[in-house]
Amino acid sequence: MTKSEALFQRAVQVMPGGVNSPVRAFGSVGSVPKFIKSAEGAYLYDEDGNQYIDYIGSWGPMILGHANQEVLGAVAKACERGLSFGAATAPEVELAELVCSLIPSIEMVRMVNSGTEAVMSAIRLARGYTRRNKIIKFTGCYHGHSDGLLVKAGSGAMTSGIPDSLGVPAGCTQDTLTAEYNHLDSVEGHFARCGEEIAAVIVEPVAANMGVVPPKPGFLEGLRRLCDANGALLIFDEVITGFRLGIDGAQGYYGIRPDLTTFGKIIGGGMPVGAYGGKREIMELVAPVGGVYQAGTLSGNPVAMAAGLAMLTILKDHPEYYQELNGRAGRFYQRMQEILGKSGLPYHVNHVGSLGCLYFTGTEVIDYESAKTADTKAFAKYCNYMVSHGVYLAPSQFEAIFLSMEHTEGLLDKTLGQMEQYFCG
Ligand SMILES: Cc1ncc(COP(=O)(O)O)c(C=O)c1O
Repeated sequence: MTKSEALFQRAVQVMPGGVNSPVRAFGSVGSVPKFIKSAEGAYLYDEDGNQYIDYIGSWGPMILGHANQEVLGAVAKACERGLSFGAATAPEVELAELVCSLIPSIEMVRMVNSGTEAVMSAIRLARGYTRRNKIIKFTGCYHGHSDGLLVKAGSGAMTSGIPDSLGVPAGCTQDTLTAEYNHLDSVEGHFARCGEEIAAVIVEPVAANMGVVPPKPGFLEGLRRLCDANGALLIFDEVITGFRLGIDGAQGYYGIRPDLTTFGKIIGGGMPVGAYGGKREIMELVAPVGGVYQAGTLSGNPVAMAAGLAMLTILKDHPEYYQELNGRAGRFYQRMQEILGKSGLPYHVNHVGSLGCLYFTGTEVIDYESAKTADTKAFAKYCNYMVSHGVYLAPSQFEAIFLSMEHTEGLLDKTLGQMEQYFCG
């Protein structure tokens, strides 16, 4: 028995499914998780000493690769000063200033501890600001696990076939309207029926929890227009796309200004951080200035702020990184497509910047319905092959591939070689 298998046997006795977050369980691909001991650059190392080229990157934050020395150094220094004070600190101000300077739509920001918390709070704020209750979300978009948003969510819920969670009272979701991603008419329909009750539309500007689905030209513009016409707020959930597609996220990439934005992942440099921000006029409704209550003992934690500050400073100081990463990623996904073409298999590759997904379907994936045509059993076989050959993929057809600055052409070629071996024999 491997050390990972032995740990998993112990883990399932004391943790539901042996994990602290469902997709980590590898159950959907019929295997057991590798227990990771350390990571460096583009590599993960498990408890058994196996090395993997990592394409999860902690589900997004590791855009600079694992164990970046500058980020680690900043964290070590912060630790020496104490782990938590529950009081205002300078690094909070510095990170907030940096975020406001990098994202034109953001004049004020509030730090929280996770993407879930950021989205939950942004929705409360949108409701408080508009004095309306209903929100529109898109089928297959995931916005964390708060009650009102666990409706037709993608990601883990989609992978495990749980459409909506047990334990969510109907009352919590009665104001959550669902529309179809990339289908503006489904949003127009809601606004036509009850536009004056809709507080906000929340969207992943690139849907990255049903694989990776780029917005069709005009889709995000259409959402902006509909929100403006109906007095609703547009919320971009940039927990995945923020500081990844570019320093100003998907909103910079596509040139659309949302009213509120939520962040997670990269903003914490690998530590538990989330944030929401937007126009001053809206943000000043958050307590203690305004009447929308939201709080957190560990929010703005000095160690987490130090990690985020170090990460964002590196990214800000190296705008060429995005060009390099997105260029390398473009070539990687193109070559992937060529391998699949050679194999004669009708699979599709979607990608935006460094985010990508290989769909096991002959159908072009543009929304939730088309994503669902993917053959998850065929994906499971492929995933297990790649992991057993040193390429660590997310154990779900509906998760994105995350590349980092540490994924050199050499490592990408090695990965493509494994794929070619699998698909073309
Ligand atoms: C778009 C999006 N929003 C929100 C979340 C929730 O973030 P967290 O897992 O940090 O709570 C996720 C998680 O992956 C996400 O992808």
